[in-house]
Amino acid sequence: MPTIPSKLAESLKKRKQENAFRSLKKTSSLIDFSSNDYLGLASSKKIYQQSHLILKENNLLQNGATGSRLLSGNHILYDLTENFLAEFHQTEAALIYNSGYDANIGFFASVPKRGDLILYDELVHASIRDGIAISRAKAYKFDHNNPESLQNKLSKIEKTDDLELYIVTESVFSMDGDMAPLKDFTKISEEFGAFLIVDEAHATGIFSDKGEGLVQELEIQDKVFARLNTFGKAPGCHGAVILGSKSLKDYLVNFSRSFIYTTALPPHSVATILAVYHEFEKGIPQIQQLHQNIIFFRNQIEKLRLEKHFIFSKSGIQSCIIPGNEQVKNIAENLRREGFEVKPILSPTVHKGRERLRFCLHAFNSEEEISQVLKILAKLLA
Ligand SMILES: Cc1ncc(COP(=O)(O)O)c(C=O)c1O
Repeated sequence: MPTIPSKLAESLKKRKQENAFRSLKKTSSLIDFSSNDYLGLASSKKIYQQSHLILKENNLLQNGATGSRLLSGNHILYDLTENFLAEFHQTEAALIYNSGYDANIGFFASVPKRGDLILYDELVHASIRDGIAISRAKAYKFDHNNPESLQNKLSKIEKTDDLELYIVTESVFSMDGDMAPLKDFTKISEEFGAFLIVDEAHATGIFSDKGEGLVQELEIQDKVFARLNTFGKAPGCHGAVILGSKSLKDYLVNFSRSFIYTTALPPHSVATILAVYHEFEKGIPQIQQLHQNIIFFRNQIEKLRLEKHFIFSKSGIQSCIIPGNEQVKNIAENLRREGFEVKPILSPTVHKGRERLRFCLHAFNSEEEISQVLKILAKLLA
Protein backbone atom coordinates (compact mmCIF):
# COMPACT_ATOMS: atom_id res chain seq x y z
CA MET A 1 0.00 0.00 0.00
CA PRO A 2 1.43 3.48 -0.84
CA THR A 3 2.56 5.40 2.25
CA ILE A 4 1.47 9.00 2.81
CA PRO A 5 3.15 12.04 1.16
CA SER A 6 6.07 13.43 3.18
CA LYS A 7 4.22 16.69 4.02
CA LEU A 8 1.53 14.66 5.77
CA ALA A 9 4.08 12.56 7.60
CA GLU A 10 5.74 15.79 8.72
CA SER A 11 2.40 17.07 10.14
CA LEU A 12 1.94 13.85 12.10
CA LYS A 13 5.48 14.07 13.43
CA LYS A 14 4.83 17.64 14.59
CA ARG A 15 1.63 16.57 16.35
CA LYS A 16 3.58 13.95 18.27
CA GLN A 17 6.34 16.42 19.16
CA GLU A 18 3.71 18.81 20.52
CA ASN A 19 2.13 16.05 22.59
CA ALA A 20 -1.10 16.59 20.69
CA PHE A 21 -1.33 13.37 18.65
CA ARG A 22 -4.90 12.07 18.49
CA SER A 23 -5.83 8.41 18.36
CA LEU A 24 -9.10 6.53 18.57
CA LYS A 25 -9.73 4.85 21.91
CA LYS A 26 -12.39 2.36 22.91
CA THR A 27 -15.19 3.86 25.00
CA SER A 28 -14.58 3.15 28.66
CA SER A 29 -16.82 1.98 31.46
CA LEU A 30 -15.36 4.55 33.85
CA ILE A 31 -17.52 7.11 35.65
CA ASP A 32 -18.66 9.41 32.88
CA PHE A 33 -17.61 13.04 33.13
CA SER A 34 -16.83 13.28 29.45
CA SER A 35 -19.71 12.33 27.16
CA ASN A 36 -22.25 14.78 25.74
CA ASP A 37 -25.07 12.51 26.92
CA TYR A 38 -26.04 15.14 29.53
CA LEU A 39 -29.43 13.59 30.35
CA GLY A 40 -28.57 9.93 29.90
CA LEU A 41 -31.07 9.62 27.04
CA ALA A 42 -28.63 7.84 24.70
CA SER A 43 -29.31 4.62 26.58
CA SER A 44 -32.96 5.26 27.51
CA LYS A 45 -35.01 2.06 27.01
CA LYS A 46 -38.16 4.13 26.81
CA ILE A 47 -36.88 6.22 23.89
CA TYR A 48 -35.59 3.06 22.19
CA GLN A 49 -39.01 1.42 22.45
CA GLN A 50 -40.92 4.56 21.48
CA SER A 51 -38.82 5.06 18.37
CA HIS A 52 -39.54 1.49 17.23
CA LEU A 53 -43.22 2.06 17.85
CA ILE A 54 -43.14 5.22 15.72
CA LEU A 55 -41.49 3.24 12.90
CA LYS A 56 -44.16 0.52 13.10
CA GLU A 57 -47.05 2.98 13.28
CA ASN A 58 -45.76 4.68 10.14
CA ASN A 59 -45.10 1.43 8.35
CA LEU A 60 -41.44 2.27 7.97
CA LEU A 61 -39.69 -1.03 8.43
CA GLN A 62 -36.65 -0.10 6.36
CA ASN A 63 -33.00 0.30 7.24
CA GLY A 64 -31.91 3.18 5.04
CA ALA A 65 -33.35 6.37 3.58
CA THR A 66 -32.42 5.25 0.03
CA GLY A 67 -31.37 8.69 -1.20
CA SER A 68 -31.10 12.42 -0.64
CA ARG A 69 -34.21 14.15 0.67
CA LEU A 70 -34.70 15.80 -2.71
CA LEU A 71 -34.71 12.38 -4.39
CA SER A 72 -36.05 9.26 -2.65
CA GLY A 73 -35.07 9.91 0.99
CA ASN A 74 -37.81 12.23 2.25
CA HIS A 75 -39.78 9.62 4.25
CA ILE A 76 -42.91 10.64 6.14
CA LEU A 77 -41.13 11.00 9.50
CA TYR A 78 -39.32 14.07 8.25
CA ASP A 79 -42.53 16.05 7.89
CA LEU A 80 -43.92 14.84 11.19
CA THR A 81 -40.72 15.59 13.06
CA GLU A 82 -39.99 18.95 11.45
CA ASN A 83 -43.52 20.16 12.18
CA PHE A 84 -43.18 19.01 15.78
CA LEU A 85 -39.79 20.72 16.12
CA ALA A 86 -41.04 24.00 14.65
CA GLU A 87 -43.94 24.09 17.09
CA PHE A 88 -41.86 23.05 20.12
CA HIS A 89 -39.22 25.65 19.33
CA GLN A 90 -41.82 28.36 18.54
CA THR A 91 -40.64 29.12 15.06
CA GLU A 92 -42.08 28.96 11.53
CA ALA A 93 -40.02 26.16 10.11
CA ALA A 94 -37.47 23.48 10.88
CA LEU A 95 -35.02 21.71 8.57
CA ILE A 96 -33.24 18.57 9.73
CA TYR A 97 -29.63 17.98 8.70
CA ASN A 98 -27.58 14.81 9.11
CA SER A 99 -25.46 16.40 11.84
CA GLY A 100 -24.65 19.72 13.46
CA TYR A 101 -21.41 19.79 11.53
CA ASP A 102 -23.29 19.39 8.23
CA ALA A 103 -25.83 22.03 9.25
CA ASN A 104 -23.22 24.67 10.07
CA ILE A 105 -21.25 23.94 6.92
CA GLY A 106 -24.38 24.02 4.78
CA PHE A 107 -25.75 27.16 6.39
CA PHE A 108 -22.65 29.34 6.36
CA ALA A 109 -21.50 28.20 2.94
CA SER A 110 -24.80 29.24 1.35
CA VAL A 111 -26.50 32.02 3.34
CA PRO A 112 -23.90 34.81 3.63
CA LYS A 113 -23.05 35.78 0.04
CA ARG A 114 -20.12 37.49 -1.65
CA GLY A 115 -20.06 41.12 -0.48
CA ASP A 116 -21.73 40.26 2.87
CA LEU A 117 -20.03 40.33 6.23
CA ILE A 118 -19.97 37.79 9.06
CA LEU A 119 -18.99 38.75 12.59
CA TYR A 120 -18.30 35.73 14.75
CA ASP A 121 -17.28 35.16 18.36
CA GLU A 122 -13.60 34.22 18.44
CA LEU A 123 -14.42 30.92 20.20
CA VAL A 124 -17.14 29.54 17.92
CA HIS A 125 -17.08 25.86 17.06
CA ALA A 126 -14.93 24.41 14.26
CA SER A 127 -18.04 23.59 12.21
CA ILE A 128 -19.02 27.29 12.08
CA ARG A 129 -15.49 28.29 11.18
CA ASP A 130 -15.33 25.68 8.44
CA GLY A 131 -18.66 26.91 7.03
CA ILE A 132 -17.36 30.48 7.11
CA ALA A 133 -14.17 29.37 5.36
CA ILE A 134 -16.24 28.02 2.45
CA SER A 135 -18.47 31.11 2.34
CA ARG A 136 -17.67 33.88 -0.13
CA ALA A 137 -18.55 36.53 2.46
CA LYS A 138 -15.86 38.35 4.44
CA ALA A 139 -15.61 37.42 8.11
CA TYR A 140 -14.18 39.09 11.21
CA LYS A 141 -14.06 37.77 14.73
CA PHE A 142 -15.02 39.74 17.83
CA ASP A 143 -13.77 39.20 21.39
CA HIS A 144 -15.39 36.31 23.19
CA ASN A 145 -18.81 37.17 24.67
CA ASN A 146 -18.02 40.85 24.36
CA PRO A 147 -20.85 43.11 23.09
CA GLU A 148 -18.57 46.20 23.05
CA SER A 149 -16.08 44.46 20.81
CA LEU A 150 -18.90 43.45 18.46
CA GLN A 151 -20.37 46.94 18.48
CA ASN A 152 -16.95 48.41 17.83
CA LYS A 153 -16.41 46.24 14.77
CA LEU A 154 -19.89 46.95 13.44
CA SER A 155 -19.59 50.69 13.83
CA LYS A 156 -16.54 50.68 11.53
CA ILE A 157 -18.43 49.04 8.68
CA GLU A 158 -19.73 51.18 5.88
CA LYS A 159 -23.21 49.81 5.27
CA THR A 160 -24.40 49.76 1.68
CA ASP A 161 -27.77 48.54 0.38
CA ASP A 162 -26.13 45.46 -0.97
CA LEU A 163 -24.30 44.41 2.18
CA GLU A 164 -25.93 42.05 4.67
CA LEU A 165 -24.48 41.63 8.14
CA TYR A 166 -24.51 38.34 10.04
CA ILE A 167 -23.63 37.93 13.72
CA VAL A 168 -22.77 34.43 14.91
CA THR A 169 -22.43 33.00 18.38
CA GLU A 170 -23.07 29.89 20.45
CA SER A 171 -25.51 30.20 23.34
CA VAL A 172 -23.39 27.85 25.50
CA PHE A 173 -19.78 27.54 24.41
CA SER A 174 -18.60 24.02 23.80
CA MET A 175 -15.16 24.38 25.33
CA ASP A 176 -15.70 27.03 28.03
CA GLY A 177 -19.29 26.24 29.02
CA ASP A 178 -20.05 29.93 29.48
CA MET A 179 -23.04 31.66 27.93
CA ALA A 180 -23.28 34.42 25.36
CA PRO A 181 -24.96 37.71 26.35
CA LEU A 182 -27.73 36.96 23.88
CA LYS A 183 -30.02 39.82 24.90
CA ASP A 184 -27.23 42.32 24.23
CA PHE A 185 -26.57 40.68 20.89
CA THR A 186 -30.23 40.91 19.85
CA LYS A 187 -30.19 44.65 20.65
CA ILE A 188 -27.00 45.13 18.65
CA SER A 189 -28.33 43.14 15.72
CA GLU A 190 -31.47 45.31 15.70
CA GLU A 191 -29.41 48.50 15.95
CA PHE A 192 -27.23 47.54 12.98
CA GLY A 193 -29.86 45.67 10.97
CA ALA A 194 -27.87 42.43 11.25
CA PHE A 195 -29.09 38.83 11.16
CA LEU A 196 -28.34 36.95 14.39
CA ILE A 197 -27.48 33.23 14.27
CA VAL A 198 -27.23 31.17 17.47
CA ASP A 199 -25.76 27.68 17.78
CA GLU A 200 -27.64 25.99 20.63
CA ALA A 201 -25.79 22.64 20.53
CA HIS A 202 -24.98 22.66 24.25
CA ALA A 203 -28.19 24.37 25.38
CA THR A 204 -30.70 22.09 23.63
CA GLY A 205 -32.40 19.81 26.15
CA ILE A 206 -30.79 21.72 29.01
CA PHE A 207 -32.12 25.27 29.21
CA SER A 208 -35.73 26.44 29.53
CA ASP A 209 -38.30 24.28 31.34
CA LYS A 210 -38.61 21.58 28.73
CA GLY A 211 -35.16 21.86 27.19
CA GLU A 212 -36.12 24.32 24.47
CA GLY A 213 -32.73 26.05 24.73
CA LEU A 214 -31.40 29.38 25.94
CA VAL A 215 -32.99 31.43 23.16
CA GLN A 216 -36.46 30.40 24.32
CA GLU A 217 -35.54 30.70 27.99
CA LEU A 218 -34.73 34.35 27.25
CA GLU A 219 -37.83 34.67 25.03
CA ILE A 220 -35.86 36.11 22.12
CA GLN A 221 -36.84 33.51 19.51
CA ASP A 222 -38.56 36.16 17.37
CA LYS A 223 -35.36 38.21 17.20
CA VAL A 224 -33.08 35.42 16.09
CA PHE A 225 -32.73 34.81 12.37
CA ALA A 226 -31.57 31.20 12.65
CA ARG A 227 -30.86 28.69 15.39
CA LEU A 228 -28.93 25.45 15.19
CA ASN A 229 -30.04 22.77 17.63
CA THR A 230 -28.23 19.46 17.63
CA PHE A 231 -29.55 16.05 18.69
CA GLY A 232 -26.27 14.28 19.44
CA LYS A 233 -25.78 15.87 22.85
CA ALA A 234 -28.57 16.17 25.47
CA PRO A 235 -31.20 14.54 23.18
CA GLY A 236 -28.88 11.50 23.07
CA CYS A 237 -29.42 10.60 19.43
CA HIS A 238 -28.15 12.04 16.13
CA GLY A 239 -28.71 14.86 13.64
CA ALA A 240 -29.46 18.56 13.90
CA VAL A 241 -32.03 21.13 12.92
CA ILE A 242 -31.96 24.67 11.60
CA LEU A 243 -34.87 26.71 12.94
CA GLY A 244 -36.05 29.86 11.22
CA SER A 245 -38.58 31.26 8.77
CA LYS A 246 -40.31 29.28 6.01
CA SER A 247 -38.38 31.26 3.41
CA LEU A 248 -35.08 30.41 5.07
CA LYS A 249 -36.05 26.73 4.92
CA ASP A 250 -36.97 27.05 1.23
CA TYR A 251 -33.63 28.74 0.58
CA LEU A 252 -31.63 26.04 2.34
CA VAL A 253 -33.49 23.23 0.58
CA ASN A 254 -32.53 24.87 -2.71
CA PHE A 255 -28.99 26.06 -2.06
CA SER A 256 -27.44 24.33 0.96
CA ARG A 257 -25.11 21.76 -0.54
CA SER A 258 -24.54 19.68 2.61
CA PHE A 259 -28.31 19.25 2.77
CA ILE A 260 -28.81 18.49 -0.92
CA TYR A 261 -25.89 16.26 -1.82
CA THR A 262 -26.07 13.59 0.85
CA THR A 263 -28.17 10.57 1.73
CA ALA A 264 -30.90 11.48 4.23
CA LEU A 265 -30.92 10.20 7.80
CA PRO A 266 -32.53 6.74 7.99
CA PRO A 267 -36.09 6.50 9.37
CA HIS A 268 -34.81 5.09 12.65
CA SER A 269 -32.71 8.18 13.38
CA VAL A 270 -35.61 10.53 12.69
CA ALA A 271 -38.01 8.37 14.74
CA THR A 272 -35.58 8.62 17.67
CA ILE A 273 -35.49 12.42 17.41
CA LEU A 274 -39.29 12.48 17.42
CA ALA A 275 -39.47 10.10 20.40
CA VAL A 276 -37.06 12.30 22.38
CA TYR A 277 -39.04 15.43 21.60
CA HIS A 278 -42.31 13.75 22.62
CA GLU A 279 -40.64 13.22 26.00
CA PHE A 280 -39.34 16.80 26.13
CA GLU A 281 -42.86 18.03 25.41
CA LYS A 282 -44.23 16.04 28.37
CA GLY A 283 -41.39 17.32 30.59
CA ILE A 284 -38.62 15.08 31.89
CA PRO A 285 -37.11 15.08 35.41
CA GLN A 286 -33.53 14.64 34.13
CA ILE A 287 -33.29 18.34 33.21
CA GLN A 288 -33.90 19.35 36.82
CA GLN A 289 -31.48 16.66 38.05
CA LEU A 290 -28.76 17.97 35.75
CA HIS A 291 -29.21 21.51 37.09
CA GLN A 292 -29.01 20.26 40.66
CA ASN A 293 -25.74 18.55 39.79
CA ILE A 294 -24.39 21.73 38.19
CA ILE A 295 -25.15 23.66 41.40
CA PHE A 296 -23.63 20.90 43.54
CA PHE A 297 -20.49 20.85 41.36
CA ARG A 298 -20.11 24.65 41.68
CA ASN A 299 -20.55 24.45 45.46
CA GLN A 300 -17.92 21.74 45.75
CA ILE A 301 -15.47 23.80 43.68
CA GLU A 302 -15.95 26.67 46.12
CA LYS A 303 -15.59 24.43 49.15
CA LEU A 304 -12.31 23.03 47.82
CA ARG A 305 -11.12 26.50 46.79
CA LEU A 306 -10.77 25.48 43.16
CA GLU A 307 -12.68 28.42 41.62
CA LYS A 308 -9.53 30.11 40.33
CA HIS A 309 -8.82 27.09 38.11
CA PHE A 310 -12.31 26.92 36.62
CA ILE A 311 -14.01 29.04 33.96
CA PHE A 312 -17.25 30.33 35.49
CA SER A 313 -20.15 28.39 34.00
CA LYS A 314 -23.74 27.52 34.82
CA SER A 315 -23.98 24.90 32.10
CA GLY A 316 -23.18 21.21 31.91
CA ILE A 317 -19.63 22.03 30.79
CA GLN A 318 -17.18 22.95 33.57
CA SER A 319 -13.64 23.56 32.41
CA CYS A 320 -10.57 23.49 34.63
CA ILE A 321 -7.65 25.29 32.99
CA ILE A 322 -4.38 23.35 33.26
CA PRO A 323 -1.85 24.93 30.89
CA GLY A 324 0.29 22.59 28.78
CA ASN A 325 -0.68 19.45 26.86
CA GLU A 326 1.63 17.25 28.92
CA GLN A 327 0.30 18.52 32.26
CA VAL A 328 -3.37 18.24 31.42
CA LYS A 329 -2.91 14.76 29.94
CA ASN A 330 -1.11 13.67 33.11
CA ILE A 331 -3.90 14.84 35.37
CA ALA A 332 -6.55 13.20 33.18
CA GLU A 333 -4.56 9.95 33.28
CA ASN A 334 -4.38 10.12 37.08
CA LEU A 335 -8.16 10.59 37.25
CA ARG A 336 -8.61 7.61 34.92
CA ARG A 337 -6.60 5.45 37.26
CA GLU A 338 -9.00 6.45 40.02
CA GLY A 339 -11.96 5.42 37.84
CA PHE A 340 -13.08 8.77 36.35
CA GLU A 341 -13.30 9.66 32.67
CA VAL A 342 -12.63 13.38 32.23
CA LYS A 343 -11.27 14.45 28.86
CA PRO A 344 -8.18 16.62 28.52
CA ILE A 345 -8.68 19.24 25.82
CA LEU A 346 -5.37 19.98 24.17
CA SER A 347 -3.98 22.72 21.99
CA PRO A 348 -4.49 23.25 19.05
CA THR A 349 -8.18 22.45 19.78
CA VAL A 350 -7.94 25.30 22.32
CA HIS A 351 -5.37 28.10 22.38
CA LYS A 352 -1.92 27.28 23.79
CA GLY A 353 -1.91 28.00 27.51
CA ARG A 354 -5.68 27.41 27.72
CA GLU A 355 -5.49 23.60 27.75
CA ARG A 356 -8.06 22.18 30.12
CA LEU A 357 -9.87 19.30 31.72
CA ARG A 358 -13.43 19.51 30.49
CA PHE A 359 -15.96 18.09 32.92
CA CYS A 360 -19.26 17.26 31.26
CA LEU A 361 -21.88 16.90 33.97
CA HIS A 362 -24.84 14.57 33.65
CA ALA A 363 -28.22 14.06 35.27
CA PHE A 364 -27.05 10.57 36.26
CA ASN A 365 -23.82 11.59 38.04
CA SER A 366 -24.21 11.11 41.80
CA GLU A 367 -23.16 13.73 44.36
CA GLU A 368 -20.71 11.17 45.71
CA GLU A 369 -19.05 10.87 42.28
CA ILE A 370 -18.84 14.64 41.93
CA SER A 371 -17.31 15.29 45.34
CA GLN A 372 -14.92 12.35 44.90
CA VAL A 373 -13.56 13.44 41.51
CA LEU A 374 -13.10 17.03 42.70
CA LYS A 375 -11.29 15.96 45.88
CA ILE A 376 -8.83 13.94 43.79
CA LEU A 377 -8.44 16.86 41.38
CA ALA A 378 -7.70 19.23 44.28
CA LYS A 379 -4.92 16.92 45.47
CA LEU A 380 -3.46 16.62 41.98
CA LEU A 381 -3.45 20.40 41.54
CA ALA A 382 -1.93 21.08 44.95
C1 LIG B 1 -21.25 24.23 19.29
C2 LIG B 1 -21.33 23.04 18.40
N1 LIG B 1 -21.91 23.17 17.20
C3 LIG B 1 -22.01 22.12 16.36
C4 LIG B 1 -21.51 20.88 16.69
C5 LIG B 1 -21.61 19.75 15.72
O1 LIG B 1 -22.70 18.93 16.04
P1 LIG B 1 -22.73 17.40 15.62
O2 LIG B 1 -21.98 16.65 16.65
O3 LIG B 1 -24.17 17.06 15.56
O4 LIG B 1 -22.08 17.30 14.27
C6 LIG B 1 -20.90 20.70 17.93
C7 LIG B 1 -20.38 19.36 18.31
O5 LIG B 1 -19.39 19.18 18.92
C8 LIG B 1 -20.81 21.81 18.82
O6 LIG B 1 -20.22 21.67 20.02
